[in-house]
Amino acid sequence: MRRIFIAAAILTVAPACSEENPDTDTILELSGDTANGKLAYDNNCASCHMADGSGNDSLNYPSLAEHASKESDAEIVTVILDGEGAMPSFRANLSDQEVADILAYIRAEWG
Ligand code: HEC
Repeated sequence: MRRIFIAAAILTVAPACSEENPDTDTILELSGDTANGKLAYDNNCASCHMADGSGNDSLNYPSLAEHASKESDAEIVTVILDGEGAMPSFRANLSDQEVADILAYIRAEWG
């Protein structure tokens, strides 16, 4: 009985960990608001990436001002949702609309 539960739990969790991320597509269809995006960025991202997007070299927090323009919208949204390395996942903390707003703000500020 316990094995069945464990198997079911793994099956339920697996899609969230896969590379294909249905939430990313949903978010990319929303239109983002840069003013709300700035608020959400300042509250959730600036502690590491800095308000001006310059990051922190000594702590290995990348500069979004330098890197964001080299990444696709889907890459940025997926990093926000799933996290990467020392960056936490924001899936549980941000709504789809807030992620779309942050993407719009990043594009407006740093290309
Ligand atoms: C606790 C610090 C921290 C916070 C908070 C944080 N990040 Fe990150 N972020 C990182 C680190 C570290 C990486 C590099 C991850 C790696 O490649 O190993 C990163 C990578 C990225 C990347 C990919 C850029 C690149 O050059 O690899 C983007 C885009 C990004 N973060 C955006 C955001 C956004 C938007 C938020 C707010 C929703 C945010 N981050 C919050 C630490 C943070």
